[in-house]
Amino acid sequence: MEMLVINGSPRKDRNTAALLKYAMDGAAAAGAVSNLIHLYELDFKGCCSCFACKKKGRKFSGCCVMNDSLRDVLEKIQVCDVLLLGSPIYLGNITGLMKSFLERLIFANLSYDSKDRSQFTGCIQTGFIYTMGIPHDFINDSGYQYIFDTNKRYLELLNGKSEYLISADNYQFDDYSKYDASNFDVVHKSLIRETQFPLDCQKAYEMGERLCSL
Ligand SMILES: Cc1cc2nc3c(=O)[nH]c(=O)nc-3n(C[C@H](O)[C@H](O)[C@H](O)COP(=O)(O)O)c2cc1C
Repeated sequence: MEMLVINGSPRKDRNTAALLKYAMDGAAAAGAVSNLIHLYELDFKGCCSCFACKKKGRKFSGCCVMNDSLRDVLEKIQVCDVLLLGSPIYLGNITGLMKSFLERLIFANLSYDSKDRSQFTGCIQTGFIYTMGIPHDFINDSGYQYIFDTNKRYLELLNGKSEYLISADNYQFDDYSKYDASNFDVVHKSLIRETQFPLDCQKAYEMGERLCSL
């Protein structure tokens, strides 16, 4: 059992990465091997609309044909059992690089022919961990639910189950006193970091374990 983990945050050791690492520990407890890839270490673009993945008579490998540093990752995804993604919310959506990555992964496997809309031949269980600054109570009015549901639907085109985890009200800076950020209540943020974030980490652990036990 192999789980591929994609960190869509530019920060390699903060909220998103921490949760992904807990999920990797959970995966290890289920006997799986996992590999972590930081998207921001790669040099790649989003879908360029060449339609090579839809062309009649194509030799389709399941992989987007664009030849940049994402290609190797997309090839690895073809042979993994579990794919776990993590992204902070940036300006109301996943990060730009995570979006570009999903365009390349999902559009290549999206069928314009079949009723089930998938031309992926394998079966990959998927998970998505979202991190964000807004408090949990604001999510309903934020429009983010549409993003969580839409990405879940797209990831289900890889023929497995898909689930997601939300970690809200994250602690954004190392030290709030060093930044102009008076809109945030640092006492509240510290409390969430000490009480809620560890619970989110535990949920991430269980998610990794669950995904690798399916
Ligand atoms: C460019 C940028 C835009 C952001 N936009 C949002 C936003 O729209 N909504 C939100 O809840 N948090 C927003 N945040 C906060 C991050 O989502 C949050 O701090 C997250 O935990 C960062 O993840 P990381 O620690 O893994 O980098 C933004 C942060 C940055 C840097």
